[in-house]
Amino acid sequence: MKSKYLYIQTIGCQMNVYDSERIIQGLKPLGYEMTASLPRADVILLNTCAIREKAEQKAFSFLGRLADLKKKNPSLIIGIGGCVAQQEGEKIIRRAPHIDLVFGTHTIHRLPEMIQRIIHRRCRVVDIEMSEWIDEDDAVMAAPGNGGPARFVTIMRGCDNFCAYCVVPYVRGRETSRKPENIISEIQALVSSGVREVTLLGQNVNSYGKKEGLCSFSELLKRVNAVEGLLRIRFTTSHPKDLSEDLIRAFGRFDKLCHHIHLPVQSGADKVLKRMNRRYTREQYLDKIEALRRVCPDIAVTSDFIVGFPGETRDDFKETLDLIEQVRFDGVFAFKYSDRPKAPAAAFPGKVEETQKADRLQQLFDLQSDISIQKNQMLVGSTLTVLVEGESKKQDEVAIQASGKKVQWTGRTSSNKIVNFTIDENPVFSGDGSVGSLVDVHIEKAFPHSLWGGPVDRRLPHPACMKGAESYAA
Ligand code: SAH
Ligand code: SF4
Ligand code: F3S
Repeated sequence: MKSKYLYIQTIGCQMNVYDSERIIQGLKPLGYEMTASLPRADVILLNTCAIREKAEQKAFSFLGRLADLKKKNPSLIIGIGGCVAQQEGEKIIRRAPHIDLVFGTHTIHRLPEMIQRIIHRRCRVVDIEMSEWIDEDDAVMAAPGNGGPARFVTIMRGCDNFCAYCVVPYVRGRETSRKPENIISEIQALVSSGVREVTLLGQNVNSYGKKEGLCSFSELLKRVNAVEGLLRIRFTTSHPKDLSEDLIRAFGRFDKLCHHIHLPVQSGADKVLKRMNRRYTREQYLDKIEALRRVCPDIAVTSDFIVGFPGETRDDFKETLDLIEQVRFDGVFAFKYSDRPKAPAAAFPGKVEETQKADRLQQLFDLQSDISIQKNQMLVGSTLTVLVEGESKKQDEVAIQASGKKVQWTGRTSSNKIVNFTIDENPVFSGDGSVGSLVDVHIEKAFPHSLWGGPVDRRLPHPACMKGAESYAA
């Protein structure tokens, strides 16, 4: 069979990364290999995100650039999927007539059939039907790919929370959970191909299985924790209103569960939280953080913020800064509020000026950057266990020469901090060539978004940080 090439570009969250992996796996039986070259591709697919206007614009500007390629090569198939495709449907083809295919967030399993149809009938296809979850299709689609030792596994899709600003419930549909046995078989298959860490994905993992009467999320964690050969488990995202005692206790119960939680708070002001329809108060959020730190003192906490939500005053924003100082997050993602056509907040009064939003965002980042660096500096001198993900993209020549080693590696700690480091031994390579071993690294330098380290024989013990390292030593 003549080689055929697939180019795929992914914008958006981890769910889209996972879906792109499913797309690649699904098209392999048709003979498609991946290419990083646009002109070489027979099929170009764009997996899109609609969370903010900027993400949507990014998709359309990428598509615009493909018109010339299509002119030169009329048999090229160009497809758009993901959340913008789900939202806009046929309108995309009217706006960009060089597009052959629009597929939705629920129709990925039908993609091979859609592409065959376009090849044989030279027609355009739009399939954005929102269907019931077909778990069997996922079990077939989600075979392991070639993406390194840490991988995402979607355990549920959709969202029932309807936060006032958010497009997700409209483009991903109602919340539905996958069956635990399918999730476990998928993880086992990943582990046997060399994967050592999984991140379980859902918009609100804490309500996993509730609707369908499957097991609870903690029970699922227990089952994932028992998968032989797996070294680490992460999950995202947990909605603060649903973060249960049971899940908080999981951080003390399951040895493979990493000491990190991403717990988006969005705002520090109760008035704003109420209008956002988040259904928790600032105090309830702070209580949950306290409970997490009681169970797992070295847990890293990260969060999401929206600045300039309609009606947000300067005083409301001050409460957000105050919350950041109080919690001292390990890292945050923060965004300027962006109107989404279907989300109720688009019609809310009191829109905040763009310049105000930009100013608030900068203040937030400045504050957090100080906190992040201070927190990272406290780790200098400690030994942390790192899952090696590969060679660092940016090789730090000075550091490499100083250490007398050849390569600088990169990986993450249990608390999800990126560590670039040199070590004595080459890390062990697992099945498919991904680097998947846990190594102890002596932390020597701290930056706002990463740490730098060297071999453990230079270790200066730091009692506060040794505990996490020991739990992975076995
Ligand atoms: N399910 C996750 C979040 C998914 S979206 C949760 O509940 O936290 C990721 C982040 O994008 C959100 O946490 C929020 O901070 C941001 N976001 C969502 N809609 C937005 C909008 N309209 N404008 C700006 N930021 C938005
Ligand atoms: Fe969006 Fe809220 Fe659902 Fe998260 S919980 S995906 S922010 S509606
Ligand atoms: Fe974006 Fe869709 Fe994810 S809107 S954030 S890709 S669920």
